[in-house]
Amino acid sequence: MRTFKVVSLLMVIALVLSACGGAAAPSGTTAAPQGDLKIAILAPLSGSVATFGLSTKEGALMAIDEWNAKGGLLGRKIVTVVEDSQCKADPAVNAANKVIDQDGVHYIIGEVCSSASIPVSRIATVKKVLQISPTSTNDALTVGADGKAVPYIFRACYNDSFQGQVVANFALKTLNFKSAFVLSDQTNSYTIGLADSFAKTFTAGGGTIVGKENYLGTDTDFSAILSKVSAAKPDMIFLGDYYPTVNLFYKQAKEKGITAPFMGGDGWDSSDLDRVAADGGYYSNHYDPGDTRAEVQNFIKAYGAKYKDDKGNPKVPDALAVLAYDAANMLLNSINNAGADDTDKVQEAMLKLSYSGVSGKITIDPNTHNPIKAAVVEQVKDGKIVYVSTINP
Ligand code: PHE
Repeated sequence: MRTFKVVSLLMVIALVLSACGGAAAPSGTTAAPQGDLKIAILAPLSGSVATFGLSTKEGALMAIDEWNAKGGLLGRKIVTVVEDSQCKADPAVNAANKVIDQDGVHYIIGEVCSSASIPVSRIATVKKVLQISPTSTNDALTVGADGKAVPYIFRACYNDSFQGQVVANFALKTLNFKSAFVLSDQTNSYTIGLADSFAKTFTAGGGTIVGKENYLGTDTDFSAILSKVSAAKPDMIFLGDYYPTVNLFYKQAKEKGITAPFMGGDGWDSSDLDRVAADGGYYSNHYDPGDTRAEVQNFIKAYGAKYKDDKGNPKVPDALAVLAYDAANMLLNSINNAGADDTDKVQEAMLKLSYSGVSGKITIDPNTHNPIKAAVVEQVKDGKIVYVSTINP
């Protein structure tokens, strides 16, 4: 009886000690160099823009798998925590809190959409978690209201100030357009920022905005707006939104007999863009698969070998896959260069990074945390996406 009591007492003490040890384990941004290195991927894996999430996940995992095959990072295996953040603020914020507070990640790749990435960034910066969005282009992601770079927040893509300029200059100078009608989703910071940037450059360059209309991301019937577009007879219609809205708008515009082309930005890039409805349209993007650089062609080969479409053919990576691959490599190289799982050191390394990515040569501007990179202009033509030109900053 007595022995039993002593043994149980010892067991209780051992349990309490181990529990205390667990609770007191180092937390925060500088864990001991042991165990797996966790990286979160936040992307819209379900919902209306699910192709964005799938490509992002595939691109990021490809980079991480390559690093693991070479022995991992800082002597540790890289493991991922993937969350479906749905391209929306609330689910993205919940996912960010979960991966930071419950999973203990110090690094987030994501989100895809600006309106989800921006609220995540405001949490990450406070918690000293380093976030890199592969694709969120809204200026406010990396630059705060004070005009300064937001600590610990980076992106792998150019921003919308640049993207809007690219499309406006191309419309004015190459297509010789004089008038534009501008559309934007008043609930989506990406489409608002991109439309503003386009309109500013288009007007400054001598063009006229002959009409401006807002809609809601949930709208599906655009006939009232399209009647106004029809009456204004613009040379072009600017629609910097994601592919589901582009598909609906373009189809309804053609049914109304509108022949002026739509022009937009990277949000058009999807295997689900309706290439029949959007025939004749132009959009800016981050890469073109016909680019002959070795980084591009090697990536296309490796991606196609790893991922197949639903017919079993090698998948051709879209810009989201490319940028997720680049963002993951930017992060992993910076952690490697820092030599420590410490987000202060990794941030310093990110600022010094020079990385030859698939989407171009990447260095980070310390004042904005943006890479300085070229954009490409693509046209939807006869069921294909045709490369038109590359525009440098
Ligand atoms: N740039 C978009 C945003 O900020 C996201 C996106 C990038 C979508 C590239 C498609 C392709 O919301």
